[in-house]
Amino acid sequence: MSTERILDVSADADALADRAADWFVAELASRSGPLAVALSGGSTPKRLYERLTRDPWRSGLDFSRIHWFWGDERIVPADDARRNTLMVETALLNHVPAPPENIHVIAASPTTPDDAAVAYEAELKRFYGADTLGPERPLFDIMLLGVGSDGHTASLFPGKPSLAVRDRWVVSSEPGLDPFVPRVTLTFPAIASSRAVAFLAAGADKKPILDKVFSGADLPSAHVTAAGPIHWFLDKAAAGE
Ligand code: 6PG
Repeated sequence: MSTERILDVSADADALADRAADWFVAELASRSGPLAVALSGGSTPKRLYERLTRDPWRSGLDFSRIHWFWGDERIVPADDARRNTLMVETALLNHVPAPPENIHVIAASPTTPDDAAVAYEAELKRFYGADTLGPERPLFDIMLLGVGSDGHTASLFPGKPSLAVRDRWVVSSEPGLDPFVPRVTLTFPAIASSRAVAFLAAGADKKPILDKVFSGADLPSAHVTAAGPIHWFLDKAAAGE
């Protein structure tokens, strides 16, 4: 288990997306067999996803081998703009030769959050081929995450019972924001089963929470572990440079 942090600071959000896209392609190129990527929502990763539709990044990816998963999702109708799935489809998946069977979506409403969580955990277990995560064989090759201004990551919000869940891979998330939006999230053990984690954060409004995360505050985004290092792709404004 690793908690090693690697900081990568770029001039601005566009340069950050270039760096993250380079890293993403190189990470996957070094692996054989099927590949699993867990995606996050947000405007910073959107720039990364858009890059993956274009060269040089696009031609560096073997789309037939990449399986796309989501770290968290809002359980609203499939065509609701708040769906991370819709954002990733619009920015990336509709523009690349991703086989439909490689796209593993978290259910939309009218499925309930609890049913969506149970179904997604079953889907992950089918893909992994076992019901228990083994430290020698991480579930995900890449886990992309963001950090909210309250320190949440995926849909793991400060002070909520889901932070303590160890016996599930996916849970429905308690209300963490106002207004409440029903969510489903991977748990810490599922996130930890990643060969590499990358947080993406841009803009001066991220600086206060990043200061807290990096100084060891008790916040969800500070508690992420992985099989390999945790990369932080930041722009100068977020890093305070
Ligand atoms: C989501 C994720 C959330 C996100 C952070 C940061 O919004 O889908 O639940 O964890 O990654 O809130 O979002 P930004 O990068 O857009 O600020």
